Amino acid sequence: MPADDRWLFYQTALTGPARREWVAQWPAGPLGAWVDWGAAYGALSVEVAQQRGGAVYAVDWSRARLAAAARWAERVPHRGIVLWTAADVMTYRPPEPVGGMSARFLLQHLPDPAGALAHWANVLDEGGCLMVEDVDDGWTVEHPEPPAAWNTLVLALQQLQKSRGGDRQIGRRLPQLLNEAGFVLEATEVAVQGAWVSSEAFTLSRQLERFRLEGEREALLEGGHLTAAQWEDGVAARAAASGPVFMTAGTLRIRAQKPAPTSARRAD
Ligand SMILES: C[S@@+](CC[C@H](N)C(=O)[O-])C[C@H]1O[C@@H](n2cnc3c(N)ncnc32)[C@H](O)[C@@H]1O
Repeated sequence: MPADDRWLFYQTALTGPARREWVAQWPAGPLGAWVDWGAAYGALSVEVAQQRGGAVYAVDWSRARLAAAARWAERVPHRGIVLWTAADVMTYRPPEPVGGMSARFLLQHLPDPAGALAHWANVLDEGGCLMVEDVDDGWTVEHPEPPAAWNTLVLALQQLQKSRGGDRQIGRRLPQLLNEAGFVLEATEVAVQGAWVSSEAFTLSRQLERFRLEGEREALLEGGHLTAAQWEDGVAARAAASGPVFMTAGTLRIRAQKPAPTSARRAD
């Protein structure tokens, strides 16, 4: 795995328990293939194949991530078939009917989330479900407050994602976006994880933050979102802060359905 991708791998591992708990509640039907959009390292795609069986198209345009995912998946028993598919989520169409779909932590990165949802609505069978989870930084709280110099880095990272067309507050927009794409919202839930964490446990999440920032360091500096001095100050201030903290992080989780057409009216 490239060094600048370690954050994504850690995110996949650290959010695993919460993800699996959610997947266990997913509807078993309807039949038909499943598409996991933006599959990355494939943990969710494999968990869907474990739970439902059948074909799961794991779609991502990163061939390197899919190749790593396919190697790991060989070691995990599952009763379905995962088809690692290098393609663009804005245009890909599987070669068979699709009964269900998932998109986790993907829409926050897309410059045109409405366009993606319109395409997915078109691909999905009538009556099929779409499971979406994404972040909203509005539910992020940390007390005691992290150092101001560190917050400068976090804000710069948000700006960088925005400059690429993404949105780290997309969670609150999802109900409207799904509704406008023709989906019916069946369940809408805010999943806020809150914990009072010791500095040892906190080290892990700090490591994730650090990997994520280090992976974007060049882009942050080149894009003018940060100066090298601000970078150094932020990293030093974060390293100096110790002691337990209360922290929350929140995502929006939605189960949506593509409605079946109302039965055609008889002409007579
Ligand atoms: C944060 S990761 C998704 C994580 C994963 N779904 C999970 O639950 O752990 C976002 C993924 O979307 C992929 N991606 C972003 N835009 C894409 C596009 N237009 N087409 C295909 N893949 C895309 C990226 O390559 C990346 O692997």
